[in-house]
Amino acid sequence: MIPWLGEEEAEAAAEAVRSGWVAQGPRVAAFERAFAEHLGVEHAVAVSSCTTALHLALIGAGVGPGDEVVVPSLSFVATANAVTYAGAVPVFADVDPAAGNLTAATVEPLLTGRTRAVIAVDQGGVPVDLDGIRAAVGPRGVTVVEDAACGAGSVYRGRPVGAGAELAAYSFHPRKLLTTGEGGMVTCRDGELAARLRRLREHGMSVSAADRHAGAGGAGVLETYDEIGFNYRMTDIQAAIGLVQLRKLPAMVARRRELAARYRELLAGTGVRLVDDPPHGTTNYQSCWVLPPDGAPDRAELLVRLAEAGVSARRGIMAAHLEAPYKGTARVPLPATELLTRRSLILPLHHALTEEQQDRVVAVLRSALG
Ligand SMILES: Cc1ncc(COP(=O)(O)O)c(C=O)c1O
Repeated sequence: MIPWLGEEEAEAAAEAVRSGWVAQGPRVAAFERAFAEHLGVEHAVAVSSCTTALHLALIGAGVGPGDEVVVPSLSFVATANAVTYAGAVPVFADVDPAAGNLTAATVEPLLTGRTRAVIAVDQGGVPVDLDGIRAAVGPRGVTVVEDAACGAGSVYRGRPVGAGAELAAYSFHPRKLLTTGEGGMVTCRDGELAARLRRLREHGMSVSAADRHAGAGGAGVLETYDEIGFNYRMTDIQAAIGLVQLRKLPAMVARRRELAARYRELLAGTGVRLVDDPPHGTTNYQSCWVLPPDGAPDRAELLVRLAEAGVSARRGIMAAHLEAPYKGTARVPLPATELLTRRSLILPLHHALTEEQQDRVVAVLRSALG
């Protein structure tokens, strides 16, 4: 991945610096409004990362000590870690091997009296079937939080990914399409909840520093700290970049989908399976992961062969239950997760990738596959 940043972002960041207000302020507020409008949702709360967005979303869902949260093990470790930060226990569910996402069938057997939430991840940008999972947990009062870290620009049942969720969390890390360097966003439907999330991201302050500066609440208003919050703020420099990136998002998605379609054509006949759109939506191809055919050299060897030829491919998605903090905690076998994490790899894909570069990636991969 190479982020698609240019002079416009550099100028926007410089303007924020020149304005003299660099912490969370008017540009963060403008970015939140623009992001909410892009999704067609009521409330968007900008934060420092998707990890902190997930932490706040879980608190907002009422998750705490003694609770269980069903998550895919096949995800960046931040998904499970956010559950641990909230004092709850991540319960690992398997995924659909085609999409790499949770399904109602993989979640349902793991629901217990302690289940408070499910985190449904749009892995690599592929939209998860939120409605299916909701239907499975519906009658139990379990909140489905969408981890849309990778999902900006993907579509679920005709709407932007995350738009239909009670709570959704996005990442603006440079491995994602839309980047602010580091950054994240929580979206939700409920105004009171959004107000609480805004306070929690800023130490639990009743009136934000930016609002006091702008004169909200009247002259000399003193803020109070009514619950323990965090410093999960985004800066105005990041938000200035985010506003430009958001305008570029449709072009980024279009180019990535074009390049992914070209990979599919070039890989025809190799037996390599390229991640595809699910029946209920379209992916932004944040991660263009592929599964080599049975009998292919092992993944480590393929990565070495690609690296030696100057091709920067990566392992596929990690599996949290195989890492030290969560080893031995899986309650059910996770065969699809283990297959994908062991064998899949992510091909180079970024906005400025040329067709010549793509041809070279495929030529090296074909030769490595024998
Ligand atoms: C599915 C998923 N969730 C959460 C995160 C964490 O995002 P951030 O780096 O913005 O904290 C990532 C980052 O890669 C991710 O892929």
